[in-house]
Amino acid sequence: MISIRRKLLMYLFGGMISATLLAGFATYVQVRHEMNEMFDYQLQQIATAFPTELSVSHTLQVGDDSEDEVMLQIWYKDNQLLFTSAPTIQLRRVNTIGFSKTRLNQQNWRVYSQLDQGRFIQVSQPTAIRNRMAASMALRSLIPFVVLIPLLGLLIWIVVGRALQPIGRLAASINQRTPETLESISDGVYPPELQPMLLALNGLLARLEQARTTQRAFVSDAAHELRTPLAALKLQLQLVERDNQDPELQPGLGKLHQRLNRASHLVQQLLTLARHEGRLPDRRYQKVNLQLLVAGVVSDLAPQAEHKHVDLGVIAAADGSDHAIYAYGDVENLRILLGNLVDNAVRYTPAYGRVDVSVSSADGYALLQVSDNGPGIPAADRERVFDRFYRREGSGVSGSGLGLFIARTIAAQHDATIELGNPDDGQGLLATLRIKQMVADPRSRSATRTAFPLREQHESPNIS
Ligand SMILES: Nc1ncnc2c1ncn2[C@@H]1O[C@H](COP(=O)(O)OP(=O)(O)OP(=O)(O)O)[C@@H](O)[C@H]1O
Ligand SMILES: [Mg+2]
Repeated sequence: MISIRRKLLMYLFGGMISATLLAGFATYVQVRHEMNEMFDYQLQQIATAFPTELSVSHTLQVGDDSEDEVMLQIWYKDNQLLFTSAPTIQLRRVNTIGFSKTRLNQQNWRVYSQLDQGRFIQVSQPTAIRNRMAASMALRSLIPFVVLIPLLGLLIWIVVGRALQPIGRLAASINQRTPETLESISDGVYPPELQPMLLALNGLLARLEQARTTQRAFVSDAAHELRTPLAALKLQLQLVERDNQDPELQPGLGKLHQRLNRASHLVQQLLTLARHEGRLPDRRYQKVNLQLLVAGVVSDLAPQAEHKHVDLGVIAAADGSDHAIYAYGDVENLRILLGNLVDNAVRYTPAYGRVDVSVSSADGYALLQVSDNGPGIPAADRERVFDRFYRREGSGVSGSGLGLFIARTIAAQHDATIELGNPDDGQGLLATLRIKQMVADPRSRSATRTAFPLREQHESPNIS
């Protein structure tokens, strides 16, 4: 499909060049007509004012310019040539009196002849001379156009570019829309020609937003509704366990417990997802101290790590700086994000493993890193694990497959990225959250690794 810009430029340039050529041709036709009249008059004048004393050897030059040279011939009545101004040219005598045409050596001649005192006077001129002169005059009349064409071309180029700018702006505006930002496009800045398209697009965006809201509300409501019966079931199970000490029943009850926990976790993750999808209101963004955020998350997960004999700790920034590092974001959501990364590290690392969490900064970005020495994730699978409900087989650990999806959703809200890679020693997984850093605070922080347990050292941290 040919682009509108190219089409406009093609038609406008084509039109301009055709109009110029047409103007040139019209000038040529007009000039030739006038030139014919002028030269005919000249031929007539020469015939009337021919010299009285002439011989065959006499040559006659008419006019200053040899280009408009005319040929004069005189015959007696008995067809005997009395005089010719160009003896080498054998132009025959015409039969008509007045203006006529004749041909010699594939050349057309314009002829004027008259009878005068018994003599036949014939004045002739090649018509090619007239055409040549008319063409040269027409071409000269086109010179101003030739100068103007590049200027007009430039003007057309600029005008077409400017006229099409709103389309580019609209495309950029549509490009900015993500599933999280589906607000309608403001129509004030677009020309009337684009309004129908804008109207249709805004209608579509509104319907999409509506569909998303409905879907989110459904997931949230369903998860919420499921929480209560699950909690009741758990309670019921605990009562049964308490009242019934039959050892034969214990394995079955234990499995039931496990399944119920899994179902509760899934419902909790779904609820988190439904709550944290979508764009956050601006008021929720604030300055977040990342070291305190890390300390809070690590202390929350410390019991889980301790239970599994995993050494969970916070290490100093890789660049050795001990300043507080800040980012602009929503504390609650960032806590959930980091919580999911640390939770994965602790859960997928086998007993007696090690999990390190660090905060550092580089090139205006803050890096939150969680590394473990567990089984890791093969490079080919490191993108897929971010998919909804995707779980790698063989880990032997239960989960809903939503943790990394939630983490990435929250990262996107903060224009941040999460990357999975290998830790420096190659064993395990290194998850890196890269988020824009806010101006550093001069207050210094501890630069040493804070070994597990942390809960006592960071009791109720003040995050923001
Ligand atoms: N630190 C890790 N080491 C090894 N594998 C990991 C690690 N983190 C994530 N994975 C793999 O990525 C998959 C997806 O992780 P994700 O956190 O999205 O879901 P989940 O942990 O299975 O469930 P949920 O987090 O919702 O409880 C996991 O099933 C696991 O196979
Ligand atoms: Mg997880």
